[in-house]
Amino acid sequence: MALKFEASCPHGLCPGWSLIIKGETSSTENDFEINFLSDSGDQIAFHFNPRFSEGSIICNSFLSSHWGQEERTDTFPMEANEPFQIEIFSDRENFQVYIDDSKIIQYRHRMKHFAIITKVQILNDINLSSVELTRREMYD
Ligand code: GAL
Repeated sequence: MALKFEASCPHGLCPGWSLIIKGETSSTENDFEINFLSDSGDQIAFHFNPRFSEGSIICNSFLSSHWGQEERTDTFPMEANEPFQIEIFSDRENFQVYIDDSKIIQYRHRMKHFAIITKVQILNDINLSSVELTRREMYD
């Protein structure tokens, strides 16, 4: 596990925060992942895992020591060595994910206890050029 970015927000990231990352991957062999998780790391509210080898993005939650049912995208709008932008925004019902401004998936919240989702991590095969974490005003 190679940690590329980590940030904490003690008051919680959901709903209302938007994560925008720009980056690229150097190979189609290895994957990267973005996790919204609890401070201790034992509850992953949202795991976002593009898998080049499968041509799909796998989304899931790791709660009470188990992975749940995977939700997969039908499309895979990323290529190795091509820059992309991913935005993950949560409202009260869902995590909404956009890649290069196109909506790619909507993932319904499984972890309803939002207060414990305080951390975001980006791991493994991604070269980040920027990471932006902003709070949207509609949730003040
Ligand atoms: C597993 C994998 C985990 C996670 C999970 C998602 O097979 O080991 O890292 O991606 O799938 O369902």
